[in-house]
Amino acid sequence: MKMRYRWPILILMVVVLGVTACEDDSKEAAFTVADLPAERDADTGKELFEKGDGDAPACKSCHNTGSEDGATGPGLGGIGSEAGERVDGESAEEYLLNSIIAPGKHVVEGYRNNMFSKYDDKLSKQQIADLIAYLLILN
Ligand code: HEC
Repeated sequence: MKMRYRWPILILMVVVLGVTACEDDSKEAAFTVADLPAERDADTGKELFEKGDGDAPACKSCHNTGSEDGATGPGLGGIGSEAGERVDGESAEEYLLNSIIAPGKHVVEGYRNNMFSKYDDKLSKQQIADLIAYLLILN
């Protein structure tokens, strides 16, 4: 291959890789609030937040529940009352669910999308519903 064809091909590869990576980052939510069980337990949610479960890392490893930033994520104090205001057309529950199962969908300003991205797979719907119940009482 002649030298002058190499650069365009390299650039094309970089672009294709970049686009694929972006798609991954903003993966769509695998399910909606309508799929979550209605019975929820905020205490179980709190425990999950603090300890995680199996392959699902504790939320607390990146977030705290006050206004201070956690290790890498924003402080979640007040999220219970703010969640419903974050994105037009998304209720508090919808926003929280998306934050957990599709964290790249809306990235909080000033932060990078480096939240653990497999909670949809590693936690049950019941566990996610319990977490949401807990987040909703963080005021
Ligand atoms: C590896 C670190 C990490 C872990 C673990 C993590 N998060 Fe996050 N989280 C982040 C980062 C970074 C952001 C900000 C970027 C974004 O919005 O995706 C964030 C954003 C959020 C937001 C949006 C906050 C806002 O102000 O709108 C919520 C809600 C949230 N996380 C909940 C959770 C819950 C619940 C868990 C546990 C099930 C969890 N996170 C686990 C890093 C993490």
